[in-house]
Amino acid sequence: MTDPHEVQFELLDNADLDANIEVNVFLRRFHGTQAAVPPPAIVRELVQGLQGLPDPVTSVARAGGDVVGAATAWTPVMLIKPLLHLKDPMSARKVLTRWRLFSHMAVAPEQRGLGIGRELVRLLEAECRRGGAVAMFGFAEDLPEPSWPFYERLGYRILGRGETTLIGGIPSGQGPGRAGRGFDRRLTVH
Ligand SMILES: CC(C)(COP(=O)(O)OP(=O)(O)OC[C@H]1O[C@@H](n2cnc3c(N)ncnc32)[C@H](O)[C@@H]1OP(=O)(O)O)[C@@H](O)C(=O)NCCC(=O)NCCS
Repeated sequence: MTDPHEVQFELLDNADLDANIEVNVFLRRFHGTQAAVPPPAIVRELVQGLQGLPDPVTSVARAGGDVVGAATAWTPVMLIKPLLHLKDPMSARKVLTRWRLFSHMAVAPEQRGLGIGRELVRLLEAECRRGGAVAMFGFAEDLPEPSWPFYERLGYRILGRGETTLIGGIPSGQGPGRAGRGFDRRLTVH
């Protein structure tokens, strides 16, 4: 186990593909095969038709140069189409800029319980806030063990089973059909 004081925290440079791959390889150990931190070209494709959205933000913890933790947040791109159906592009962009979705987060098993996860979330929140976000939301699976109590400790509201955060009046879709709990937090309220 590493001395928590020897852990360095940084934000991932999205243009640094080597670091991007390193963080993806780390997160895939805990979250399956899905790409966790999308390369910029894929993000540009996803947000096609609605330019000017914030880039993904990823906080990384390293010990002795190795990645021991990472957390990543996206603009909730799955809401682009429903929002554009209901709102004009400027209003849709405003809603999407204000909300960030936790996509993946993990700390190496041997480094848990040292405060690394808390620090990763705080760094991520600060960077998202700097980019215009006022709230964060996500969904924590029950397996292999429920992680929503971690978000609760960090001041997040834990939603009831089957409940989902409303984004611009639209259910975020995170949760239904999956075992776990949604969580969210307004960054401006402390
Ligand atoms: C959830 C996870 C990221 C927490 O990371 P961590 O570095 O161990 O968390 P911290 O040490 O910063 O803990 C912060 C606080 O949350 C509490 N906490 C952490 N994990 C917890 C859990 N699973 N259940 C209850 N409380 C938890 C800690 O006790 C600590 O409480 P404190 O305020 O009393 O000090 C880590 O356990 C993990 O990687 N789990 C597997 C992957 C995962 O579930 N990811 C999240 C869902 S996407």
